[in-house]
Amino acid sequence: MKYRKFGKHDLTTSEIGYGAWAIGGSWGDQDDGDSLAALNRALDLGCTFIDTAEGYGGGKSEKLIGQVLRERRAAGKEESIFVATKTPPSDGEWPPSPYCKTKERYSESYLRKNVAARMTCLGTDKLDLLQLHTWTRAWNRNPTPFKILREMQAEGKIGLIGVSTPEQDQNSVIQLMRDGWIDSVQVIYNILEQEPAAELLDVAAECGVGVIVRVAFDEGALTGKFTDETKFPDDDFRSDYFAGDRIGRVVKKVDAIKADVADSGYTMPQAALKFVLSHPAVSLVIPGIRTVYQAEANCGVSDLPAMPKDLLTKLQAHNWRRGIWYSGK
Ligand SMILES: NC(=O)c1ccc[n+]([C@@H]2O[C@H](COP(=O)([O-])OP(=O)(O)OC[C@H]3O[C@@H](n4cnc5c(N)ncnc54)[C@H](OP(=O)(O)O)[C@@H]3O)[C@@H](O)[C@H]2O)c1
Repeated sequence: MKYRKFGKHDLTTSEIGYGAWAIGGSWGDQDDGDSLAALNRALDLGCTFIDTAEGYGGGKSEKLIGQVLRERRAAGKEESIFVATKTPPSDGEWPPSPYCKTKERYSESYLRKNVAARMTCLGTDKLDLLQLHTWTRAWNRNPTPFKILREMQAEGKIGLIGVSTPEQDQNSVIQLMRDGWIDSVQVIYNILEQEPAAELLDVAAECGVGVIVRVAFDEGALTGKFTDETKFPDDDFRSDYFAGDRIGRVVKKVDAIKADVADSGYTMPQAALKFVLSHPAVSLVIPGIRTVYQAEANCGVSDLPAMPKDLLTKLQAHNWRRGIWYSGK
C-alpha cells in the first residue's frame, strides 16, 4: 500500500481508503460477520482511512467500525486509523433547496448534538474528520455551520472539518475552499464523471485541501460486472439508481471503456481506481467494500504500476455529462 499526504495537513493516508456505506445498509443483504472481516482485512493490508456517516444505517456502519478498532487495540495492534464521518442536515429536503436556511438545517444545537452522537457510535471522544454530508450553493455567503464546527475544533472535539459535495452541484464547494472553511472535500470523480478535473481538484490542490474521492466505480457499474439484465433487490438503493433504462445506458458506456482497458493489463476495477489516483490533487479513493475479496482486490490496486499516460488520455474521452440520476425520475 502506498501513502499520500492529505492536503496541507499533518497527515498521510493510504491511497485506498475504506468506503463503509454498504456495511451500514441500503445495499441489499449484508452480513455483519462479512463486514467485520472485510474491515479487518483492509486494515491488515495497510488501509488507514475509513469513511462512514450517520446515514449509513443510522449509526450502524460507525458502530461496526468502532467495534473493529476497539478489538484491534485490545489485541495489541499499534496502528493509527483515521475515521471520517458525516453529519447530515436535519430533516428536510435532500439536496437542500435554495430556500433552506442553515439555521434550520445545521443549527448550532443540532450540530453539537449530532457530533456527540457520532462520537458515541464510534466510541471516541474526538472525531478525526467531521464532514457535513451535503451542502448548497445558497449557503456560501454565510457559511455559519463551518464557523460552529471551527469552534468545536478549537474545543478539541473535531480534528479536521470537511464537506461532501452535493452531487447535483459539486462545484458549489469551490468557494468554501477558497475562503478557507474546509480542510477536506469528498467528491465524486470517476471515468464517467470527470467534471471535477475542470476546476475543483486544482483549487483543492492550491488551497491545501485534502481530496477524498467517492463512487470511483459509479456504484459498481465501472467494475464492468453489470449487464442489461442486471436487477437489484428492492432493499438495494441501486434498484432506484439504475432504474428504468439507466442500467442499459450505463452498460453501453462501460462496454466502450472495457474496449480501451482490454489490453492494459488492468481489470476494470483496477483501471477505475488507478484512473482516480492518476490525478495529483487526489489524496485517496474510498471504494465501497463489503467483502474480504473486495478488500483484497481494491487495496491491492495501490501497488500496481501507475496508469500510463496514453490509457489515461483514452479514458478522459469517456466523460459522460449525463446529469444526475435521482430516484423516481
Ligand atoms: N454523499 C456522500 O457523501 C456519499 C455518497 C456515496 C458514497 N459515499 C462514500 O463513498 C464510498 C464509495 O462509494 P459507494 O460505495 O457508494 O460506491 P462505489 O465505490 O462506486 O461502488 C462500491 C460497490 O462496488 C462493488 N465492488 C467493490 N469493489 C469491487 C471489486 N473489486 N469488484 C467488483 N465489485 C466491487 C460493491 O458492491 P457489490 O458487491 O454489491 O456489487 C461495492 O459496494 C461509500 O462507501 C461511502 O463511504 C459518500
